[in-house]
Amino acid sequence: MLFTIRPARDDDADLLPAIERSAAQAFLACEGLQWIASEDVLSAAQHRVFIAAGHTWVVVDEKDRPQGFLCGQDCGEDWHIVELSVAQALQGRGQGRRMITTASAWAQAQSFAGLTLTTFTQVAWNAPFYARLGFERLDAQRCSYFLQRQLAAERAHGLTDRCAMRLELQGVS
Ligand SMILES: CC(C)(COP(=O)(O)OP(=O)(O)OC[C@H]1O[C@@H](n2cnc3c(N)ncnc32)[C@H](O)[C@@H]1OP(=O)(O)O)[C@@H](O)C(=O)NCCC(=O)NCCS
Repeated sequence: MLFTIRPARDDDADLLPAIERSAAQAFLACEGLQWIASEDVLSAAQHRVFIAAGHTWVVVDEKDRPQGFLCGQDCGEDWHIVELSVAQALQGRGQGRRMITTASAWAQAQSFAGLTLTTFTQVAWNAPFYARLGFERLDAQRCSYFLQRQLAAERAHGLTDRCAMRLELQGVS
């Protein structure tokens, strides 16, 4: 089956929470993180805000049905990935990597200096995956105020073993 990445439309918003829930089932295989599979996800209303800003991409199947999404926000000189999710049935087939490439090309064209995110340090498809894509782990001194607050909020929510990462976009062709 052929999958395409395109900017999300308003009528995609209602479909995205189910994709994030499906994606999170991957955590059932992670010792100590199974609870994430039943955590709250971004609401359709929250998605509409990202979509209206032009800050969401979806990977769609041949019938134009979203199977994954990446959304984010401007964050000073950098652009921050808020959520990346691929429906469980499609995971491990390169669509997450493609969406990051899409967002990164867009952010570079918009003159953002870097792409940032927060993620689990040890989960195979989180920090190690992003590191292979060129993201660098930031120590506390190199985290922006925004990233420090983000990590603190995640800690307060019970998410430990998290880190902030950044992909340099300047000078990348
Ligand atoms: C993270 C996620 C979006 C990646 O999307 P994807 O389409 O599965 O990603 P890709 O197929 O492009 O690549 C996944 C990478 O993780 C690795 N990976 C995926 N599942 C894995 C597993 N169960 N064990 C080990 N490695 C795994 C793959 O080897 C691949 O790495 P590589 O391309 O460098 O070899 C998707 O797995 C997902 O939705 N996961 C649950 C939600 C989540 O963790 N979101 C990210 C929050 S920061």
